[in-house]
Amino acid sequence: MGATGGTGRQLVAQALERGHMVTVLARTPAKLRMTHERLQVLQGNVLDYASVEAAVRGQDAVVSALGHKRYFGPTRILSEGTRNLLRAMEAQGVPRLICETSLGVGNSAGRMGLYYTLFVIPVILPFYFWDKTRQERLIEASRVEWVIVRPGALTNGPKRTAYRHGHDIGSFIRTVRISRADVADFMLNQLTSETYLRTAPGVCW
Ligand SMILES: NC(=O)c1ccc[n+]([C@@H]2O[C@H](COP(=O)([O-])OP(=O)(O)OC[C@H]3O[C@@H](n4cnc5c(N)ncnc54)[C@H](OP(=O)(O)O)[C@@H]3O)[C@@H](O)[C@H]2O)c1
Repeated sequence: MGATGGTGRQLVAQALERGHMVTVLARTPAKLRMTHERLQVLQGNVLDYASVEAAVRGQDAVVSALGHKRYFGPTRILSEGTRNLLRAMEAQGVPRLICETSLGVGNSAGRMGLYYTLFVIPVILPFYFWDKTRQERLIEASRVEWVIVRPGALTNGPKRTAYRHGHDIGSFIRTVRISRADVADFMLNQLTSETYLRTAPGVCW
């Protein structure tokens, strides 16, 4: 989910490199501009339950890098989309969800650094972060095996593979960053790891 976005494109490319079979649900499939014999692209919308259930049918896991740019004003895209995902996964017996949210949510409040904690989150992104909080709560209350991945500020830089992850990472002072490529690497590692199951690790350089 979110495959046509920044992290999502990395997830698809790296999942294919790792040998996975990948199914993508995209609002505009042509945006993806990737073809591969193990890549299936379905047209749909995370807010349309029928298209979500069709996409998750038969999958071993769902990986979500859902996001949007409707920062100013109340929004429930992340939470309602995730509600559909979880309902479809439970209906279809898909066991595991790996979902990208953000440092600064829930018990990681403050860990994006002062600039995000005092300005970006409360002034620019309050509606977005309230919806991320709702999104995380839905996941935590679900019956699926889940890992919530909370990155620092995202860059389009290359994959370093050397990054920090855990429940107490980040900084209360400086802005912490990580590339979308490294976030995707960490998220894909969670498909086969039990280390962070039913927890919300942060990830940053
Ligand atoms: N930017 C940062 O510094 C930062 C820091 C920490 C966490 N994050 C979070 O990390 C996540 C990923 O961010 P990103 O910048 O890599 O992603 P992004 O480029 O914003 O991509 C978001 C993806 O979600 C898809 N999407 C949105 N609404 C949809 C819908 N109704 N149905 C289906 N798909 C939909 C978009 O599809 P379309 O192509 O059709 O729009 C796109 O593929 C976001 O949740 C973001 O808030 C960002």
